[in-house]
Amino acid sequence: MSTTPFPPGFLWGCATSAYQIEGSPLADGAGPSIWQRFAQTPGRIANGDTGDIACDHFRRWREDVALMRDLGLTSYRFSLAWGRVLPEGRGRVNPAGLGFYERLVDELLRHGIAPMATLYHWDLPAALDDRGGWLNPDIAGWFGEYAQTVFRALDDRVKYWVTLNEPWVVADGGYMHGVLAPGHRSANEAAIAAHRLMQAHATGVQAYRAEGRHQIGLVVNIEPKHVAPGATEADRHAQTLADAYMNRQYLDPALLGRYPDELREVFGDAWPAWPDAEVEALKVPIDFLGLNYYTRSVVRHDPAHWPVPAAPVRQAGATCTETGWELYPAGLTDTLVWMHQRYGQLPLYVTENGAAFYDPPRATAGRIDDPLRVQYLHSHVAAVHEAIAQGADVRGYYAWSLLDNLEWAHGFSKRFGLVHVDFESQQRTPKASAQAYREIIRRHGAAD
Ligand code: BGC
Repeated sequence: MSTTPFPPGFLWGCATSAYQIEGSPLADGAGPSIWQRFAQTPGRIANGDTGDIACDHFRRWREDVALMRDLGLTSYRFSLAWGRVLPEGRGRVNPAGLGFYERLVDELLRHGIAPMATLYHWDLPAALDDRGGWLNPDIAGWFGEYAQTVFRALDDRVKYWVTLNEPWVVADGGYMHGVLAPGHRSANEAAIAAHRLMQAHATGVQAYRAEGRHQIGLVVNIEPKHVAPGATEADRHAQTLADAYMNRQYLDPALLGRYPDELREVFGDAWPAWPDAEVEALKVPIDFLGLNYYTRSVVRHDPAHWPVPAAPVRQAGATCTETGWELYPAGLTDTLVWMHQRYGQLPLYVTENGAAFYDPPRATAGRIDDPLRVQYLHSHVAAVHEAIAQGADVRGYYAWSLLDNLEWAHGFSKRFGLVHVDFESQQRTPKASAQAYREIIRRHGAAD
């Protein structure tokens, strides 16, 4: 841990997303999302789990805000379910759906917790998927309408906005490999979805400039790509392609107005000939960048891997999480510094960082000891401190996640929470990592 505290005003938060915690997906007139459909399709989510109940946060939100207050959080990042606000994805507004988020925001503010609201964390209204979803050229306009509705209702109280969470995962998981909703498997569709996502981002930011008075940014997930000692030329080329595909495909258009050249090689004939003016229009000024950081990956050339011919190489002696991700805090420092150097003087937030380690389904005597997560937390907070020392303008840190929740296609089998959830009783138990985080916040990141 660092001995000097973090800069004044640095935000300490936890992050969640709507479908992963809320439950009651159709309550109060909400329209179904692609995740609700996906969850109802046998074989899509481990153990047949669904978000029908999840953490029951839709009904227990007051109790959950009290947990945040006890942790000492100064900010909370959550997402809105588009289909609660606009059940058909566009057109008719559902005041009851908006009302849920208004009450949540009011309760956060009552406890001095600054809300950071994400407009899109993967739960597209099913009615829009029926029209082609992220493949439809009109989707940026639909997103703009939704964004405008939400800004009008909440910008008087929400100071931090995020257009999209991790567009790479939406396109790669949802349209390239089909492991996430809507479950398609096509390189051409993935390229189109990626472009439409960035058009939606740009439209959302423009809507904000017309309606909003605070700050709006984009959240991406970055995984530094490394090669092992003794790497060949082919390994290094695979590393560059992997980096372009995952780490620069979204940031380059959003901030530099161009796609990385390597994408033509990654996508081959599936890469559409986007007109230059259309690509340049993806660059709109934003107020901050959000980084979701979990791990790095070491790769070697392997033509059997698609669409990037890069296979992951397991590191001997590395500590890995339950999702198989190497514990590598130095990658968080390096990524923040890289973003700062490549994309300019933008304020940065670590909008997600955390780890799934095994925790039992039920707490024993009101306790959950999770020493590996405590270690993960301390080492990554120190890595953020180091990035600031190296010049990156980092303004906040959000642990993923407040609660154990529905880890997408893994269902409830992977626990990321600082607070344990017994999914049978819905009992919440702060883990040892929650106590550790409370202490970090109390000292504003400084060591003893
Ligand atoms: C996502 C979260 C997810 C977490 C852990 C991020 O990719 O934004 O929704 O639960 O990583 O996998």
